[in-house]
Amino acid sequence: MPAKSTKKPATKADFKNLLSPIRIKDVELKNRIAMAPMNTVMSLDNRGYVNEQILAYYAARAKGGCGLIITECVLGTKLAAKFPFTSNLHCYSTSFAPGLAELAETIHAFGARTFIQMSIGFGRQGHAHDGSRPPAPSAIPYNVPFDLLATGFPEVLMKFPVLLPMAMGSLPYEMSIEEIHAEQDEFANSCIFAVMAQFDGIELHAPHGYLEHQFLSPRTNKRTDLYGGSLENRMRFLVEVYLKVREVVGPDYLVGMRLSADEHMPDGVTHEEALEVARVMTQLGVDYVHLSDGSYEALKYFFPSEDGAMLDEAANFKKAVPVPVMVPSIHDPKNAEQAIASGKCDIVSFGRQMFADPEYGNKVAEGRPQDIKRCKRCNECLMRAEVGLPVRCIVNKNLGREKYMPEYWRPAVKTMSVQKMKVPARLPDHLLHH
Ligand SMILES: Cc1cc2nc3c(=O)[nH]c(=O)nc-3n(C[C@H](O)[C@H](O)[C@H](O)COP(=O)(O)O)c2cc1C
Repeated sequence: MPAKSTKKPATKADFKNLLSPIRIKDVELKNRIAMAPMNTVMSLDNRGYVNEQILAYYAARAKGGCGLIITECVLGTKLAAKFPFTSNLHCYSTSFAPGLAELAETIHAFGARTFIQMSIGFGRQGHAHDGSRPPAPSAIPYNVPFDLLATGFPEVLMKFPVLLPMAMGSLPYEMSIEEIHAEQDEFANSCIFAVMAQFDGIELHAPHGYLEHQFLSPRTNKRTDLYGGSLENRMRFLVEVYLKVREVVGPDYLVGMRLSADEHMPDGVTHEEALEVARVMTQLGVDYVHLSDGSYEALKYFFPSEDGAMLDEAANFKKAVPVPVMVPSIHDPKNAEQAIASGKCDIVSFGRQMFADPEYGNKVAEGRPQDIKRCKRCNECLMRAEVGLPVRCIVNKNLGREKYMPEYWRPAVKTMSVQKMKVPARLPDHLLHH
């Protein structure tokens, strides 16, 4: 007879840290399970509007037990939207506000909090549909080394070399100082729409080799003016963006920031520099730090193939800043629990794992982690997004089809406003000028 297993089945108590509430500023999260921002390429028409599929996709993750949902990256200026990843949501005029408000309301109705991830642009990593050159700190083309690609990429790119230009950026042009200021002002103005849409917070998007990161990095920023050279100068773009956003959203609104903990490239932003950026930004008032790592040129750090790859870096951020630190890429709930219990981070953000199983949070809360459909880290989702196709998942056949599942339709009875309306400190320009 086979020996009986002596392993005790997991219970809810095994995840007490992961399931404990946390407060960021005045926003209470019911647990430490956040959905990481992930571009879904579900805004099918390249016009950047929320649609029924997007609502149902987010509803599934909110209903599935996430305490916090961070939206996919939303482009906050007209110029940024001209150079998307492949297709993104937009937020740079009133016309985007109704869809975004519907999204925030839907997530709230299913019991989660939500932050909108706002980007001022992708710089040299953006792709114009008409082939024009994107804006960047310096005119430096982008070149992905094969040995730093994440799982699955080398095979696909070798098989379909026609995809190479889609997966890489084009030669950018150097932004003038006037353009930098105009972009910052427009972006700050756009953040007003995010507050009016009733998101609980804004996450400023500064990792992964995108525009803000490009200004930070000596690898991509060769400017000789006030925006280049010393770390203080390279940080200026971020500091100004944050201060302009803070001015329009007001002191009480929650504003976090995502950063790569280390660029992992020659001449890139070092871990020590990233720590210093986090120190300065939190001294200025940033309310939490959400980590990531690497960039599109150092993809294997950005999309690790094992749990906890960024945890030691996160521990250094925890020591450096007085605000909550969030870290992705810990898929196993036991490891996520341990990460929080060890004090190395405060919140775990789940990316690809949330594609694989939207019910992750509920399964942890019900003490049945064995039922979680585990992400295989095959990166099928990411490779599809890279070539402009809506994400799909080999583990979860329903990813991308949530709009056909009535359980993710918002029940009419819950459509009333769930909280006192948040108002920005300033009105958007088009109302001010009336
Ligand atoms: C398809 C896809 C799209 C992504 N889009 C974004 C994004 O819009 N903004 C962002 O900050 N990170 C983005 N990420 C990165 C994730 O937030 C996360 O950091 C990464 O997937 C590693 O964590 P994981 O192992 O939990 O997936 C994306 C990831 C994937 C797979």
